[in-house]
Amino acid sequence: MKVPSVGEKLSPQDVERLRAGMALQMDHYAGGRLPFSCLKARGLVQHMVPLEGPDAGLVLEVMDASGGYASACLGAGHPRMQQALRDGLEDTGYVTDELGSLARVQLLEELFGPGGLWADRFPGDQYHASGRNSGSEGLELALRLVLETGFDRRRLSPKAGREGRRTILAFEGAWHGWTGGLVSLLNRRHYRLGLPQPTTEAPYGLEVSFLPYAEPEILERFFAENGSKLSAVFVEPIQGDGGIIVPPPGYLRRLAALCRENDVLLVADEVLTFAKTGRFFGMTDEQGPIPTDITVIGKSLGMGVVSTSMVIARRELSVRSSGAVSTSDLRPLTSAVLRSGLQYLVQEKLVERAGPLGEELRGRLKKDVVDAFPELFREVRGLGYMNGIELTEKSAGALTKLRTRVIEAGAFVEFMAGAGKRSHGLRYTFPAMRIAPPLIAGAEDLRELVARIQKGVRKFAEGTP
Ligand SMILES: Cc1ncc(COP(=O)(O)O)c(C=O)c1O
Repeated sequence: MKVPSVGEKLSPQDVERLRAGMALQMDHYAGGRLPFSCLKARGLVQHMVPLEGPDAGLVLEVMDASGGYASACLGAGHPRMQQALRDGLEDTGYVTDELGSLARVQLLEELFGPGGLWADRFPGDQYHASGRNSGSEGLELALRLVLETGFDRRRLSPKAGREGRRTILAFEGAWHGWTGGLVSLLNRRHYRLGLPQPTTEAPYGLEVSFLPYAEPEILERFFAENGSKLSAVFVEPIQGDGGIIVPPPGYLRRLAALCRENDVLLVADEVLTFAKTGRFFGMTDEQGPIPTDITVIGKSLGMGVVSTSMVIARRELSVRSSGAVSTSDLRPLTSAVLRSGLQYLVQEKLVERAGPLGEELRGRLKKDVVDAFPELFREVRGLGYMNGIELTEKSAGALTKLRTRVIEAGAFVEFMAGAGKRSHGLRYTFPAMRIAPPLIAGAEDLRELVARIQKGVRKFAEGTP
């Protein structure tokens, strides 16, 4: 298929081919996929064609405010990644974790070795790391680490003294992944019903309690009453799917202290927050790193080039022999790509600059989008390049149309489900438009992005069909 330039049109036969080809992929959106196809992309710009309507086949230039489900921090086709993939393919080999690999050692020592990038938070003599294919698999390993901490491998029975700790605390609106073990950590009926529920019976049963996120008093009360029954807490430093919910200052540090005081493991799901909040880790405040027992990072870690995650856990946490071996654990090529990408982020200070640029972006989103259309939007929230605008009941009811208008205006945004109905009489939270552009987006790109979002929203508000 010859790819036409922006403003030109594909032939009806080519549009039909794209439509039919799309139908060959399983539709996980129950018929709600967007009727657009991407023809090519470079940097922040994607060339997309509508597959339906009078403009079907017309090539649009669309700026990316999504980063491929928030994973492509260097945008599309970055020269540094082209080089890293070429070098990695040529030299690194493919040995597994059963033996060492130079590429893997170079990555890990630069991160966790003396003077390493993250050694202040995760010194290599106290933490060790493992690679997985995806965020979900990383969280699955984290869950295994938690469960096996309460398991005596020699006696093959619960560890003396931890039999009563069968409860995990998770949060309403949280999203940790789709794999079997993690479904129990989702408190949404829609995601859970009809799937196997883990047993809650002793000695190995698992109970999960849910609390509304970012509510300090409710958290304190829960720990005072249940601290001795808890084995672990799973927390996102900013809730993503829950609607980009930023906890109040001090909340995460207090959670870490409560965990330590009550001998409870703290698991930070930083799959989404990694490298987006103006820092590498969302578990950070003005005092510095907030300690965790297990941290899972993913998405941007793979630079949009490899699908990978990393589990960083205290050294005393491990699973039984051969219990979590994975074909993909920090493959040498993956390690080389991560190392090169992380070096680039540091060199260019792309993570740090997302702090102030993100603040400017939120100011603009508030003025030009939220305040300009108060019947459609409630508020803007976020940190760095992880931002959300909560919808109102009115706009939430026409979400696909809103998104389509914004794409037609040249900006690709995503929508998060929102935390919905919460316990303790807290207000309903509606879905949120997520604006999480790749880190390569500069100040001018962000201004243009907001202008395009505003244009699309105006068309939607005017009722353009
Ligand atoms: C906070 C969080 N945890 C875990 C996951 C699962 O990651 P993956 O889709 O790579 O399995 C996601 C994905 O959206 C996420 O946002």
